[in-house]
Amino acid sequence: MSIAITAATGRYGRAAIDALLRRGVPAHQIVAVGRNPEKLAELSGLGIATRVADYGDPAALKAAFADVEKLLFVSGTEVGTRLQQHRNVVDAAARAGVGLIAYTSVVKADTSTLMVAPDHKATEAYIRESGLPFVFLRNSWYMANYTDMAAAYVGTGEVLGAAGDGRVSAATHADYADAAAAVLSTSGHENTVYELGGDTAFTVGEYAQALSESSNRDVVYRDLSKGDYVAALGGFGFPADLAEVFADGDLGVARGDLLIDSGDLGRLIGRPTAKMRDAVADALSV
Ligand SMILES: NC(=O)c1ccc[n+]([C@@H]2O[C@H](COP(=O)([O-])OP(=O)(O)OC[C@H]3O[C@@H](n4cnc5c(N)ncnc54)[C@H](OP(=O)(O)O)[C@@H]3O)[C@@H](O)[C@H]2O)c1
Repeated sequence: MSIAITAATGRYGRAAIDALLRRGVPAHQIVAVGRNPEKLAELSGLGIATRVADYGDPAALKAAFADVEKLLFVSGTEVGTRLQQHRNVVDAAARAGVGLIAYTSVVKADTSTLMVAPDHKATEAYIRESGLPFVFLRNSWYMANYTDMAAAYVGTGEVLGAAGDGRVSAATHADYADAAAAVLSTSGHENTVYELGGDTAFTVGEYAQALSESSNRDVVYRDLSKGDYVAALGGFGFPADLAEVFADGDLGVARGDLLIDSGDLGRLIGRPTAKMRDAVADALSV
């Protein structure tokens, strides 16, 4: 049996490899797939196989998926070309005879009004049409979307956003990746949709409060219009397209698009999900 992970050189992919190893999957059964040979080389120290393939290269993808029984397909990042890249991955998996494809989608992909949702919805439909046994790992927001900015927000004394008092079921990369590892290393998940998010949803105001408590500094939440938030993110160095996605995400939080109480994540990983306050404390301790 071998399990392949695409985008293995990214944060989620790497966390999934670590989780598979922790769950006792032998290194020789793990295949890391990525587009960057230098970054992939850093993973070969783990004793796992590495294969180079860009989502834009159907032939390389098919070769990368040879003899793969289960594939963790991590969604791409390139807005505009992403859906065609995703189709390439699914076609290659089907041609290579992969036995199961686990795709990282977005929470409530059928009904979500997020800007990123149509690509996920269309990819899910394409996977269903392929006839491949599938698992949809529909992730809510990453906790890192908040904690990556923790030190900067403590520095300025205010968290900026456009989420109002909406709640978000964010969870850590480690917890989402461990859910994927659980799905890939055990049986009985074929053709299942998991709606994944943290056990305890929070508002951005509560996140600001956690920053205050962890840093012993005053940090408040300032709610902005979408346009002002996009501009502020630009000021923090975010590229324009990413700033749009983040600001749109905040409006989605306000509408409840990223709120989920399925309990699927905690059930799959077999423990409570990481708490936002602990993630904030961890982020500020480095
Ligand atoms: N739920 C959320 O809050 C949230 C937030 C942001 C993104 N996402 C989605 O979750 C995915 C994983 O997140 P992450 O935190 O691991 O992101 P990340 O650290 O930025 O990793 C993205 C990975 O995608 C790879 N990639 C991008 N374009 C590719 C292509 N054309 N061919 C092959 N590989 C390609 C990158 O390769 P390189 O290492 O070579 O650059 C990288 O390994 C993202 O790709 C995105 O779809 C979700």
